[in-house]
Amino acid sequence: MLDITINKDQPAAELYADLTSFATALVDGEPDAIANMANVAALIWQYLPGLNWAGFYRMIDDQLVLGPFQGKTACIRIAIGAGVCGTAAATGQAQRVADVHAFPGHIACDADSRSELVIPVLKNDKVIAVLDLDSPLPDHFRQEDEAGLSRLIEAIANNLG
Ligand code: SME
Repeated sequence: MLDITINKDQPAAELYADLTSFATALVDGEPDAIANMANVAALIWQYLPGLNWAGFYRMIDDQLVLGPFQGKTACIRIAIGAGVCGTAAATGQAQRVADVHAFPGHIACDADSRSELVIPVLKNDKVIAVLDLDSPLPDHFRQEDEAGLSRLIEAIANNLG
């Protein structure tokens, strides 16, 4: 296993740069998308504070299907356009939701979740998966989280599907 230490307490830009380097090294040379998603979900869970769920949904036959994650058990299938994940998949745009209860159609997998960040995974301009992060804290995710995770996912997207 890679032996890399990341300082959790450094400013967000540096933290995300380190996480992107670590994620890129983790997936390097490994073509199996499930294995890579599992390691990236574990990496995010280990280093980002304030999460109660972190993981992937994969696009399969025009539905999102639960993939590797950390956290409580979750809904298995999500229709494109439904909830926060389905909206990210339908639009190809990241969704950063300060209050999930105010998001039309939000799918409550864990009643503790209050805010959510979903980053689409694009390969050849098509959404092949989404990364979903949930927090029990209201308005937890910042623009720098959206930007940092978008860059991380873009860097490794070829090894996620
Ligand atoms: N809340 C998400 C569903 C996935 S779970 O949070 C893990 C949504 O509305 O898409």
